[in-house]
Amino acid sequence: MGKVTFRIWRGDKSGGDFKDYQAEISEGMVVLDAVHQIQATQAPDLACRWNCKAGKCGSCSAEVNGKPRLMCMTRMDTLPHDQPVMIQPMKAFPIIRDLVTDVSWNYRVNKLIPPFKPRPPDAPDGTWRMGQEEVDRIQEFRKCIECFLCQNVCHVLREHHRFGQTDEKGQLTSGQGPSEAELFGGPRFMIRVASLEMHPLDTVNRLPLLQKELNIGLCNITKCCTEVCPEHIHITDNGIIPLKERVVDEFYDPLMWAVRKVGEALGVRRRKSLPMVNP
Ligand code: SF4
Ligand code: SF4
Ligand code: FES
Repeated sequence: MGKVTFRIWRGDKSGGDFKDYQAEISEGMVVLDAVHQIQATQAPDLACRWNCKAGKCGSCSAEVNGKPRLMCMTRMDTLPHDQPVMIQPMKAFPIIRDLVTDVSWNYRVNKLIPPFKPRPPDAPDGTWRMGQEEVDRIQEFRKCIECFLCQNVCHVLREHHRFGQTDEKGQLTSGQGPSEAELFGGPRFMIRVASLEMHPLDTVNRLPLLQKELNIGLCNITKCCTEVCPEHIHITDNGIIPLKERVVDEFYDPLMWAVRKVGEALGVRRRKSLPMVNP
């Protein structure tokens, strides 16, 4: 397939610029192969994060020709070769060096989410009963590889910088009301909450967290996150929209509030599963 020019961003948090390299491309190569060839032949100090080269570890996220992609899953034969292939780090997160960004903020958001807590077993032998449809519903969300491409492309984080504040211990806090200090959890963590909230055995109510700390209301359903997800998770249709409906029911619908109160008084268990748009 011949030589192709790669225009790769080089630098660190103090600044940087694009630099051109040539790589010999052959059939079956992906962008990460070309980056490795450039590291081996021309730029041994080029920083690039990767682990599996199989689309499963979520490490090699970058922007290829301006689109958030996994470098190991972007085949060279899908890109034009008559112009330089642009490779730059994810824009939403702070630069460490070259193609490597600091994504640790995401792990701090993750810590805000209470873990799975099942109800007591349904049978004396310690087992539970649940419908297959309810089990299948959350499998989609569990495919997430934490590549953070959805976080990178979400304009609420990327353009409006809703990364919240940290306290003196470095823990994330969320400002109240719309301000630059207000945290938005981002699509990855809406999906994580959905996987727990829709779990048929889980007993924790994470709706106050969604409304107040993760500020799900800031999402305006542009679906950019869904478009870039390499696992093809229906982030908005199956995760965020049903969660938004649930938050509205919980906090803003007086009829649902009354029904819930009566249900609580009668000891009716709260139903955690939600309707799914796309199977
Ligand atoms: S749909 Fe919501 S979470 Fe997804 S990119 Fe748009 S604003 Fe962000
Ligand atoms: S939801 Fe998709 S795009 Fe977002 S982190 Fe998970 S795998 Fe990546
Ligand atoms: S190297 Fe693991 S997803 Fe690309």
